[in-house]
Amino acid sequence: MDPIDLTRLNATFMDRNVRPTLLFQDGKYAIYWIGVPEDSAFRNNSYLITDGTEALLIDPGGHNDFPVINQQIKQIISSMPVTAMVFCHQDPDAAGSMADWLALNPGMNVITAAVTNLILPHFGRSDYSFFNINEEPFFSFGSGHKLRFFEAPFLHSPGAFVTYDETSGFLFSGDIWAAIDMDWRLVVENFPAHVLKMNLYHINHMASNIAARGFVGRIRNLLLKAILPQHGSIIPEKFIPQAMDYLLRLKCGLDLVYPDIKQK
Ligand SMILES: [Fe+2]
Ligand SMILES: [Fe+2]
Repeated sequence: MDPIDLTRLNATFMDRNVRPTLLFQDGKYAIYWIGVPEDSAFRNNSYLITDGTEALLIDPGGHNDFPVINQQIKQIISSMPVTAMVFCHQDPDAAGSMADWLALNPGMNVITAAVTNLILPHFGRSDYSFFNINEEPFFSFGSGHKLRFFEAPFLHSPGAFVTYDETSGFLFSGDIWAAIDMDWRLVVENFPAHVLKMNLYHINHMASNIAARGFVGRIRNLLLKAILPQHGSIIPEKFIPQAMDYLLRLKCGLDLVYPDIKQK
C-alpha cells in the first residue's frame, strides 16, 4: 500500500470541488472527500467509505446539498446504493438529507446515538434500520474492516460522537475541530492561522472546557493519521498534537457565559 500524502493534496485540488477526492486506499477499501461547491464560510464536508459492495456515508449533509452529494457519489459507485450513513448529531446541516438517502435505499443502516435517534424521524422518516452506537461501539464491514465510535457529549450536541476508522487512522470528528473561513483549503497548511477559524465555531457552539477535555481523554491514545471534520479543512497528522492541545485549552460556551461560577 502506498499511502496518500494528505499534505500534498492542496496542490492538485482543482476547480470548485465537484469531483470526489481520494484520501485513502487499501485494496478495495477507500475513503473519499465529498464536498459541496458553495461560496459559504460555513461549508460542509461529507466523506464516503467504500468497501466492496458496501458504501458508508459520513456527515451526509443537508437536504439542499443532497443532489450535489449524490451526483458526486455516483461518480464513485454508479451501480450500487449507499448502504449505511453516520449521523454524528441531528443538526439539519448534517442530517437534513436523511429522507432523501432513505428514498434511494430504504434498507440502509442509520448509524447514530440513541438521543439523536429520537429526533431524526422529524426529518420525515422513522422506518429505517437504526444502529445504536451507544450499545454497539464498533461497526464492521463484511470484509472485517472496523469503525469505532467514541461518545463526545455536548460537543456540541448531547449525543455527539466521533467515528474512528481503524484501517486508515482517520478520525471523522463531525463539528469538533470544525472551522469557518472564506479561504478554505482541503487540508490545513498553517495551524496557528487555522486556530482563528476554529475559534469562530467552537467558542459559540461547544459546551465547555470540561466537555472538550473529557473528550480528549477518551481518544488521546488512538493512533491518528488525520482529523476529518464536517466543516473546514482536514487536519493532517503533523498538526494532531496541536489540535489536541487546542481542545485542552479551549474556553467556550458555559466557560464564557457564566465565568463567575466555578466547579466546587
Ligand atoms: Fe452541529
Ligand atoms: Fe455541523
